[in-house]
Amino acid sequence: MKFNFTSYPILKTQRLLLREATKDDCKSVFELRSNKEINKFVGTKLVETLQEANDFIEKCDNLYQSNNRVFWLIEYQKEIIGSIVLHKINLENNYAEIGYKLKPEFQQKGIMSEALQTVLEFGFKKLHLKTIEAFTHKNNIASKVLLEKHHFIFQPNRRCKVYSFNRIWRLDN
Ligand SMILES: CC(C)(COP(=O)(O)OP(=O)(O)OC[C@H]1O[C@@H](n2cnc3c(N)ncnc32)[C@H](O)[C@@H]1OP(=O)(O)O)[C@@H](O)C(=O)NCCC(=O)NCCS
Repeated sequence: MKFNFTSYPILKTQRLLLREATKDDCKSVFELRSNKEINKFVGTKLVETLQEANDFIEKCDNLYQSNNRVFWLIEYQKEIIGSIVLHKINLENNYAEIGYKLKPEFQQKGIMSEALQTVLEFGFKKLHLKTIEAFTHKNNIASKVLLEKHHFIFQPNRRCKVYSFNRIWRLDN
């Protein structure tokens, strides 16, 4: 099974534009993925150079081409303020995982809630997903509150195989 889009999906919300990352976004991607504060609960290695940010954009593009990931930059008033992603997409099993990050100065303004709502609708309606899961650090209160607000259910008996500090949240359509 394959994505069935004529072009990369762009999503619009009341305040936000969610769009593909291109090579021109290298600096913004670097800022988001190298910042210790933004990534304090995230297990993946911090990006250290613009080249690594560039490689990440290329990887997202390749994974999009292989129907495995849709990565969006979050634009607010022409500024890149965060990102949101459906990854580990499995169209055969109607499954994906979700991840998100926002610059600290834009947090707690309802922005990720707005982005998440739109991406969930996209996942369920356009990709026909049945399950979306989130793996989030056990101490990441902001992420937990966000997920609960969007009706994700905590999975107390499951553990992340890669990062033992992560907990799993699940949303079924
Ligand atoms: C998790 C994150 C994306 C939340 O984004 P956000 O835009 O601040 O969230 P919202 O403003 O939409 O808030 C959603 C809900 O979470 C609550 N919330 C947000 N941050 C919170 C915090 N630090 N403590 C407690 N509740 C918080 C909000 O009050 C809101 O609930 P409400 O509507 O009942 O008031 C943001 O904190 C972030 O980018 N963190 C760093 C990256 C990260 O940890 N990503 C997760 C990796 S799995």
